[in-house]
Amino acid sequence: MPELAMVNGVVSGLDEAFVSIDDRGFVFGDGVYEVIVSYHGNLFLLDEHVDRLRRSLKFIRMEYVDVDAIVQQIHTVFAAAEIPRAKVYVQVTRGVAPRNHQFPVPAPKPTVVVTVRDFPPLPEPLFTDGISCLTRPDTRWGRVDIKTINLLPNCLAKQEAIENNCLEAIFVSAEGKVREASAANLFLVKNETIITHPANELILCGITRNALLELAERAGYAVEERSPDVEELLLADEVFLSGTTAEVLPVVRVDDQPIGQGRPGPVSLKLLGMFREWIAGK
Ligand code: PDD
Repeated sequence: MPELAMVNGVVSGLDEAFVSIDDRGFVFGDGVYEVIVSYHGNLFLLDEHVDRLRRSLKFIRMEYVDVDAIVQQIHTVFAAAEIPRAKVYVQVTRGVAPRNHQFPVPAPKPTVVVTVRDFPPLPEPLFTDGISCLTRPDTRWGRVDIKTINLLPNCLAKQEAIENNCLEAIFVSAEGKVREASAANLFLVKNETIITHPANELILCGITRNALLELAERAGYAVEERSPDVEELLLADEVFLSGTTAEVLPVVRVDDQPIGQGRPGPVSLKLLGMFREWIAGK
């Protein structure tokens, strides 16, 4: 079960995979990405990730990329790695050209990188005890619905979270509206109603978020898609995060204040249970 990379169709070990110093992803962050995980050897919600990749590529004017070929590459390297619970990273950049801001003419060959690594489960106490978060100003650009590789504000916010004994940072707008976490979407629960930010240009519309909204509907919960303010967040009965790597993660403290009873609540645990049944293939 080797961890593997594929660069422009060539499979290698992770250490042997390289891209050029003139790659526009490296120089400008001129690219997009997806993170897909597998459970029991099956790529989870692959079609949804591929649809989002197409959308991201279209937005950055790379609609000429052969996404079907990338999907084939993903299958090839994923099969070769033989890792049942894997994290598959897919990155597509505008390719290699001398540094000039405008798009190179003719368009270079896109650089397509796929890596397949182990995806060990998060420690179980994170789910049973919940995690702590801190709020940070949302200093990102205005189109965070596009999954670009420009993640510096996310990295800075996450680092501040870690330095403050928290696991995630929650982005809050200048007007005090709660957006999402640095690498996950955010939900809050009040009186059994589930509230999450609308899927507009101010958040990344998570594949897991959409899946959870379906599970919530199936479970009979009312859902409101709106942007809550920080006061509402702190007064919520429950808060939880969703994401491909976060899965469904209860949040029990925000900015050092307990959420609800300071324990994962029943709605979060219900959805976590439903999510786990789903990924177990039940
Ligand atoms: N990030 N919001 C942000 C800012 C994210 O970076 C992510 C995921 C999500 C959740 O989206 P999804 O459910 O489609 O994974 C929301 C990935 C996992 C990452 O950057 O590693």
